[in-house]
Amino acid sequence: MIQIAILGHGVVGTGTARMIEDNREQIARAVGDTVAVKYILDIRDLPDSPWADRIVHDYGVILADPEVALVAELIGGSEPAHTFALEALRRGKHVVTSNKECVSKFGAELSAEAAAHGVSYLFEASCGGGIPVVHPLLQDLAANRITEISGILNGTTNYILTKMFREGAQFADALKEAQDRGYAERNPSADVDGHDACRKINILSACVTDELWDDSRIYTEGITAVRTVDVAAADRAGYAVKLLGRMTEGYRFVAPHLVPYSCPLSHADDVFNAVLVRGNYVGDVMFYGRGAGAEATASAVVADVVAALSLPARSRVWTEEDSPKPLSSFSCPRYLTCDEADGHALLAALPVSARRVDAPEGEVALITDPLSERDMEAVRAAVALRSHLRVWA
Ligand code: HSE
Repeated sequence: MIQIAILGHGVVGTGTARMIEDNREQIARAVGDTVAVKYILDIRDLPDSPWADRIVHDYGVILADPEVALVAELIGGSEPAHTFALEALRRGKHVVTSNKECVSKFGAELSAEAAAHGVSYLFEASCGGGIPVVHPLLQDLAANRITEISGILNGTTNYILTKMFREGAQFADALKEAQDRGYAERNPSADVDGHDACRKINILSACVTDELWDDSRIYTEGITAVRTVDVAAADRAGYAVKLLGRMTEGYRFVAPHLVPYSCPLSHADDVFNAVLVRGNYVGDVMFYGRGAGAEATASAVVADVVAALSLPARSRVWTEEDSPKPLSSFSCPRYLTCDEADGHALLAALPVSARRVDAPEGEVALITDPLSERDMEAVRAAVALRSHLRVWA
């Protein structure tokens, strides 16, 4: 029997403990031995937990126990998660995690530490919930030159945007529902302001470039400025509005986009995530599945438990890039709206052609030809825009 410890008895920690019990036989077949949870670390007592007898408050107990071969860090946040992971790796214990903040900030250090101690540091659950996407990028697609990753990487915001589109729901109500379902981060700003998606696109990009960027310097725009009337106008023009994390032409950024209905990303709704990867030999590949929630995320965590306990430890060494490529030269088409009275001024300010689309009431809406971020700044300075969304092309 192989003993493991779970750090954190929250949504993901509970789902992971349950899956390890429910799917004991499948997991044993894959690993070649039974896997059991010996400890669950939490600051709370939780006497009603089915695993109450295994709850400990002192991490030292887990570190000191030579029977614990693997630590599943499911606490979230930077600290103490980072220190806990580091200490486990230094004791020769595998670490698996769903903690995107920690991987995005400390992934280079933690992977190097794992390599130095001959153990695995795995983070499938940090991106895309239950979707296997990290492993395919590191392994199955590793021989391709990856030219594009475009992903709906945050279940909460996709849930909110879908509710706004289907039901004309108010932002706050849709967010509350996502929180009730256990999708949202403790601080929902991480979801709605795009930081969660930013960390995830940083991690996925590092899987193909071996370079982690300082995520505080990645251009990140969330969905708080997306209006229900724009979601409806986009639909009339043949697009869905989706928050995308993108790695393209050497840029990394997060922003809400109009995605044409001809692109499969546009059809990933509710809590579902979707990641489109373009490789120079394979062409386009799309990964799709539940991006958040206890069961889906547990599936990815336990997949990493199986991998760590059954495959040879292999860590890619990542470097850290403190000066990411600025977005100013990035060009893409834009959806722009302004008051009807400013329509002529907007057309005059644009250095590229644009076509009119059916606008929200009282406004003019245009979809432009590709326009750089730098040129877009000049347009913004010239005209009071109601909306500006990038168009995925
Ligand atoms: N808050 C995250 C989301 C959880 O909504 O996608 C999964 O990482």
